[in-house]
Amino acid sequence: MTDLTANDDLEALRTQLLERVAQATDESALEQVRVETLGKKGVITLRMASLGQVAPELRREVGQANNALKNAISEAIALRQTALAGAARTAKLAAERVDVTLPAAPEAEGHVHPISQTIEEITQIFAEMGFTVAEGPEIESDFNNFAALNIPPEHPARQMHDTFYLPPGADGAARVLRTHTSPVQVRTMLNSKPPIRIIAPGRTYRSDYDMTHTPMFHQVEGLVIDESTHMGHLRGCLTEFLRAFFQIDDLPLRFRPSFFPFTEPSAEVDIGCSRKGGQLKLGNHGDWLEILGCGMVHPKVLDMCGIDSTRYQGFAFGMGIERIAMLKYGIPDLRTFFDADLRWLRHHGFSFLDQPSLGLGLTR
Ligand code: FA5
Ligand code: MG
Repeated sequence: MTDLTANDDLEALRTQLLERVAQATDESALEQVRVETLGKKGVITLRMASLGQVAPELRREVGQANNALKNAISEAIALRQTALAGAARTAKLAAERVDVTLPAAPEAEGHVHPISQTIEEITQIFAEMGFTVAEGPEIESDFNNFAALNIPPEHPARQMHDTFYLPPGADGAARVLRTHTSPVQVRTMLNSKPPIRIIAPGRTYRSDYDMTHTPMFHQVEGLVIDESTHMGHLRGCLTEFLRAFFQIDDLPLRFRPSFFPFTEPSAEVDIGCSRKGGQLKLGNHGDWLEILGCGMVHPKVLDMCGIDSTRYQGFAFGMGIERIAMLKYGIPDLRTFFDADLRWLRHHGFSFLDQPSLGLGLTR
């Protein structure tokens, strides 16, 4: 490059400059070539400026040759510029290419909480037996939670429930966070006529906290009322349910006499298990585990709920949902259900597509 101003061999200069233009691989390299040839101190600019030193008889010829060189290089730079800009755009488009034929990226996967899954399973099994789902509020009147269930204000059974009492409502009536789902029985009987066949899953509250108790937990209630339902039906219904839920065909049940103010007679139900080697295993293994409370609805409760106890009768049952979910899915500490720990949920949770498929038919 250094000798170029002195180089009189225009043809050689032209070839050299065109080669440099062609070798510029990007727009900034090309700009560098432009500055060094056509810029203020560029080779061609300097040649044109030194025309005065050329012998007068040669000036015209040299001047025309310089102009031709300048035009040729300008044109070559412009062409190269267009080509490089096009190549840069093509490269950018290639880098930003989106393949619209690829499947959409899946969303981060969520999980169904074991309590929701267990409620689904319970609902499906009872639905096959002709039960519908009833619901009630978590803030209940003292009447629905206790009095209508034959638990008057000074009754010792209230002590068993560790109740959260609330300030009275607008009507002055005493209110509580419901301590069990049994008030849904009351609401259902007050609002409908027999025959009645419902389950009522939902949240319940007691002031209690240890490995097997939390202040908020879930129960599912069952209620059947008609003219002829008896204890044998209760036994059959719970046997079908527990065998289907735990998917153990020969799961034995044991009915032990018990007491609830709202049922007479009352029973507690145990299911067969084994505790060999400190491992709890459900099945026909000789040992027993308490699982739920039940009984024939007390005639006083029927009467308080507007149902003629001389004509109608039926059974009720109630169980803790966490308790049966822990047994089925091997979850050792009840408190972990409500820690909102994502790792726990990923481990114990269920896929949205994992629909409960535990119909009664499966166990037959
Ligand atoms: C009752 O609540 C009765 N209402 C059940 C009933 C209904 C009997 C209809 C007869 C007829 P109990 O207080 O035993 O019964 O509670 C039932 C279940 O709720 C218990 O077996 C247990 O599994 C669960 N439970 C009670 N307290 C807690 C708690 N703090 N945390 C988790 N689960 C609990
Ligand atoms: Mg109990």
